[in-house]
Amino acid sequence: MRIRWRRISAGAAVLAAASLFVAWTGIIDIRASTGHWRVTDWFLHWVMRSSVRTAALGGHAPRFTAAMLPLAAGHYETGCAGCHGSPTMPRPATVENMLPPPPNLQHIAATWNDAELFEIVKHGVRYTGMPAWPSLERDDEVWAMVAFLREYPSLDQAAYQRLIGFSATGSRDFATIAKSCEGCHSSAGLDETSLIPRLTGQSETYLRDSLEAYATGKRPSGVMKVALSRTSSEDRKKLASHFANQSAATETGRASEKSSRGRVLAERGDRTRGIAACAACHDAADVNEAYPRLAGQPVPYIENQLSLFRGGNRGGGAYAGVMTRAAAGLSDDDIGLLAAYYGSLPAD
Ligand code: HEC
Ligand code: HEC
Ligand code: HEC
Repeated sequence: MRIRWRRISAGAAVLAAASLFVAWTGIIDIRASTGHWRVTDWFLHWVMRSSVRTAALGGHAPRFTAAMLPLAAGHYETGCAGCHGSPTMPRPATVENMLPPPPNLQHIAATWNDAELFEIVKHGVRYTGMPAWPSLERDDEVWAMVAFLREYPSLDQAAYQRLIGFSATGSRDFATIAKSCEGCHSSAGLDETSLIPRLTGQSETYLRDSLEAYATGKRPSGVMKVALSRTSSEDRKKLASHFANQSAATETGRASEKSSRGRVLAERGDRTRGIAACAACHDAADVNEAYPRLAGQPVPYIENQLSLFRGGNRGGGAYAGVMTRAAAGLSDDDIGLLAAYYGSLPAD
């Protein structure tokens, strides 16, 4: 018995050495130009589909809303269209020669279910060039992209263009970059159902801290990270001052029974449950310039941020820790009331 094991390990060692030798000679073809044999192609794709199917088991999609589409579409234009093409831009000729080439997602999205698309978009596909999501903490952003991919096959040029707003792909000119921010953040495109924040009304300090936090990953967001990828630290300072000097939006959410209950909690807090009064730090005169204004922000945006803080995934600037503590004890119900309250206040 002992002898047989010795033979097996000696055999394995010889095989490993032989494989290394073959690789060293350089005769293994790694050229993309020659393509795969058809059977290799079939095999690799079969492995990929099986792996995604298994990894996606048990995944459960949230309810998709229309508010998810603009931020995902804007991100698609900057972060995905360069490989997969879009209704306004065919797939660039250079990526057609990738192995495998990135497919046209208008044709392919329907062959995957929601949880599988989530899996692919979040984790990417090894050995193919398909990248992972830039912030793995942000499942909510990945789901927004899945919601977009569900709509994508039905979008024509005009509908796609409407969703993405303005895009500055490739440009480093300041005015063009600032205009690209408007593609998502313009007050005209936002309403009380949006998941994108208004920038108007925030202090220059808060905007500058936030942009720096996104760029350095201290505030995780794949969407904002990619939107800022062509900016220098100098550009971000200029952008902060540019948006801080714009006048605040006038339209607001509606006051309701919910918002008046939220007001009580925001002004007084709840000692019995260890919830601090939000109003001590937000939207009061003479508070720290690094604390954001909440009045007039879209309700779903505020709810989303509060959930992120509560889950420990929001991050932010130097004072974000105090907010993480302030959100720790909030229930889903509290979050709904507080968002309804701040969303109903006039922005200025
Ligand atoms: C650098 C190029 C590149 C970028 C950028 C890229 N992809 Fe891909 N993607 C690929 C390639 C290559 C594949 C093919 C993988 C395969 O077939 O195994 C792929 C596959 C996919 C698939 C699976 C389709 C299928 O059936 O093969 C989806 C869905 C997808 N990408 C979505 C996205 C989204 C959404 C983005 C932007 C967030 C994105 N991709 C960005 C290269 C890219
Ligand atoms: C594709 C859409 C999109 C584009 C383009 C975009 N943003 Fe954003 N922005 C978002 C989303 C979504 C959020 C919320 C992210 C989060 O959850 O933290 C956000 C958040 C922000 C915040 C934080 C505001 C707050 O109240 O905390 C700032 C500041 C900001 N963006 C500035 C910019 C600037 C400047 C640009 C242009 C360089 C830009 N954005 C481009 C979608 C976008
Ligand atoms: C001790 C001060 C403090 C208290 C109390 C506090 N916050 Fe905050 N809050 C902050 C700071 C600081 C930030 C900014 C964190 C960062 O991005 O750097 C913030 C950020 C936020 C944001 C994100 C805004 C945006 O534009 O992204 C929301 C929403 C928020 N707070 C809501 C609340 C609510 C609701 C309460 C009451 C339950 C509350 N805060 C209590 C200090 C506080």
